Amino acid sequence: MSSSPRGRVHWASRLGFILAAAGSAVGLGNIWKFPYMAGNNGGGLFVLVYIACILLVGIPVFIAELHIGRQAQANVVTAFEKGHRPKSPWRFVGWLALFNPFVILSFYCVVAGWVLDFEWANLAGRSETLEHLLDSPWRQIFWHFVFVGATAAIVLGGIRNGIERWAAILMPALFVLLGVLFVRVLFEPGFLKALAFLFSFHAGALKPAGVLEAVGQSFFTLSLGMGAMITYGSYLKGEESLMRNSVAVAVTDTAVALLAGIVIFAIVFSFGLDPTQGPSLMFKTLPLLFGKMIGGYWIAAVFFLLVAFAALTSSISLLEVLVTACVERRGTGRRKATLVISALIFLLGVPSVLSFNLWAGKTVGGLTFFDVADKITSSIGLPVCGMLVSLFFGWVLGPKAASAAVGRPENHWHTRLLLWTTRLLAPAAILAVLIKSL
Ligand code: PHE
Repeated sequence: MSSSPRGRVHWASRLGFILAAAGSAVGLGNIWKFPYMAGNNGGGLFVLVYIACILLVGIPVFIAELHIGRQAQANVVTAFEKGHRPKSPWRFVGWLALFNPFVILSFYCVVAGWVLDFEWANLAGRSETLEHLLDSPWRQIFWHFVFVGATAAIVLGGIRNGIERWAAILMPALFVLLGVLFVRVLFEPGFLKALAFLFSFHAGALKPAGVLEAVGQSFFTLSLGMGAMITYGSYLKGEESLMRNSVAVAVTDTAVALLAGIVIFAIVFSFGLDPTQGPSLMFKTLPLLFGKMIGGYWIAAVFFLLVAFAALTSSISLLEVLVTACVERRGTGRRKATLVISALIFLLGVPSVLSFNLWAGKTVGGLTFFDVADKITSSIGLPVCGMLVSLFFGWVLGPKAASAAVGRPENHWHTRLLLWTTRLLAPAAILAVLIKSL
């Protein structure tokens, strides 16, 4: 990052920005969440709806968020006021875009903590099982604390320049390692079944609630509906088209999710496991594959480290949204804002930890605290926020914004396509799915 004359930091380079945006997008959502959601929703049709959502809704909203941030050069709440007028009711969309990352970060860091625990156990030569870990609130709380602390340390600024550079090496490394695992599972008996599960359609496997989950997941995975791209866009200057960058990030993100899905389901079907086991899926499958591979110990060590790093580049983008808003709206110092917000997030994560042990029986409609935190954001908060962002961009900012976002004249078809997708197609699709499934 570099400082501009106006005192607001900006990305040091175009590549730095793309890497940070891809770093935010690629995370636990791709490797941990996407496979188990596809498993819970019967595979093929869910994947198809998910990809359609990325193309029709995700990419346009991604462009819209970056533009809103870049134009306003401000935090999520102020960005809506600058795009409309001071005290505009649209600022509540900004507040929603603060609520979402706050809640998501609380459980995201818990899961990232599981990854750290697996890394540690593997290095120590112990074979960790997820049940064992989930039974222990203290171990989870410890790793949750470590992960929140790491996120806060980076957002505090010291190592930010470092992370841009590390992301340039470690993100591609994760991709390559997933490629290696992919080649390895080609030889497993479950490989073809995995492809059939993920890419062919069994009618009836997908319920309306599953469609909503696919919509929510497309937002979650692209870091939309929670201000991350508005905030990252606000560190951009210049007028270049946002389209190419957005498509590049979306393609990378989808490729990582599909690769992870194929690897995990190949293991599921080779070992005769249950594809619908939910959040534990990744943790129960991959170690089986590592156990069979030559050099499995090292591969596991590198893999969990890279996944933890991918989670870190996502979690810093979430914390950044909250810290920037607090600093700019309330005038709090950056240091204090980071420490206070991280402490609150750590505390909110504790009930998510307890959902797997002491409070496992405390449920509302069969959902634990962890489930509720996830559902309330992924299935409601993100789609609603994304829909409002889309409407704001299409109707309030209008053709001028669409033209600036794609870097084409107002009557160019790229501009028109973006304008009408954000005005009608994307919001209508989200609304229809919300109504149908709630
Ligand atoms: N996109 C990240 C992932 O897929 C999670 C995330 C969501 C990050 C929202 C930032 C904002 O893991």
